[in-house]
Amino acid sequence: MKLLRIWAYFLLILVFDWAGSGCAEYVVSVDRFVFTPIDRELIPSQSATIEHVGNRSYLSGHLYLGRSVDNVIALASLEISRPNLPRVRLFNSKFDVCSFLKNTYKSKFLQQFHYRFVNFINVQPSCPLKPHLNYTLERSYIDERILPELLPECSYFFNVEFREKTKPLANLHISGQLHPVLNKKRGPKNRVKI
Ligand SMILES: *[C@@H]1O[C@H](CO)[C@@H](O)[C@H](O)[C@H]1NC(C)=O
Ligand SMILES: *[C@@H]1O[C@H](CO)[C@@H](O)[C@H](O)[C@H]1NC(C)=O
Repeated sequence: MKLLRIWAYFLLILVFDWAGSGCAEYVVSVDRFVFTPIDRELIPSQSATIEHVGNRSYLSGHLYLGRSVDNVIALASLEISRPNLPRVRLFNSKFDVCSFLKNTYKSKFLQQFHYRFVNFINVQPSCPLKPHLNYTLERSYIDERILPELLPECSYFFNVEFREKTKPLANLHISGQLHPVLNKKRGPKNRVKI
């Protein structure tokens, strides 16, 4: 188990924690952004939409809860696939949503995810998540600058299952394509503007 965690963490670092090793230029497109409520009493209303502008995919949505909720666990996995090759699972891990919202995880990937998503929500969400409050996400996007240079052109599949103890609450699915942009001059990190 421990070895598996270390391996998963290593892959996570390999893929997302490339800080200082130069700048990757990618076009990250999102083709599917689907949030599926399972506990409909908890989640009576939600939406998830994608908007494509230029090469960037903007994600928006809302989440309205029917009761307050605490102690939410997320089971997240990321897989990539390339033509004629089997899918590769880069990680499959469990994390605590309340700690994620407090941004107490050391993982650069989760911190980036926090930065990219939590900051784009109208009210800073914290545990317990409140009922009768419309949490809305407005035009968030995945920043290609967080990615390393060595990822191949691939399709990616990011899945998260949310649970309250053992009870499934909802599933989140984000998938799309990663296109490295070739033959471009490398520059400082913040040069990349797509
Ligand atoms: C989109 O990305 C391609 C490279 O993949 C680039 O040639 C094109 O100029 C970009 N378009 C916009 C609107 O940024
Ligand atoms: C929450 O906000 C979204 C987006 O602004 C809206 O479409 C939705 O109807 C609202 N839902 C509730 C229950 O207020």
